[in-house]
Amino acid sequence: MTNTAHQEHHYHFGRGGRDAEHQKHQADIQALLDQHHLIDRVVEILPNGFNAITTSTDKHIATILQTHVTDMKARFAKGRAIRSWDKVYALLFAYREQVHVEYQLLSNGVQSQVTTDNPNLVAVLHAHAHAVSSFVAEGRKAASESYPLSPETLEKLPLHPHN
Ligand code: HEM
Repeated sequence: MTNTAHQEHHYHFGRGGRDAEHQKHQADIQALLDQHHLIDRVVEILPNGFNAITTSTDKHIATILQTHVTDMKARFAKGRAIRSWDKVYALLFAYREQVHVEYQLLSNGVQSQVTTDNPNLVAVLHAHAHAVSSFVAEGRKAASESYPLSPETLEKLPLHPHN
């Protein structure tokens, strides 16, 4: 895994911005990372993606988690990238039209299904599932690292500067 200082990262789709919407998204993400020990996550890997159940016994964290997922789905739909220094996230945004995201809110969190019909993208979805699990397990430490993708996966998925 690479562990580069944040300012050294290359942002494939630019930095997130300074507006209120982005600041709110970042604040929720920081709250989740800070309180990662209060979050539970179970992932089921599928041949075309993954299912995940992410919950918290803490009501406040469960609400932030739900807000995060709803906000990220909207952000994803309009193609406003975040964390674009991380190839896993840059690729998710670049190929978002081929990624199907379904969420159901639970009383204590969220259930998600993320799938694709593009066989080349499956490894990216799996990496995303594992990356979020590592955020839950390790918080900020994991968030400063990029979940590795194989050279074969990267070769099949060109990342055009702003596509
Ligand atoms: C403890 C920290 C975090 C938790 C618990 C969390 C949780 C989640 C969950 C449950 C989903 C739905 C998809 C899935 O189940 O994998 C999701 C999606 C997403 N998250 Fe987070 N997240 C965290 C940190 C982050 C960070 C650091 C970023 C970016 C800076 C981020 C950006 C996104 C994006 C862009 C999506 C939408 C893409 C998709 O659903 O495939 N998250 N997150």
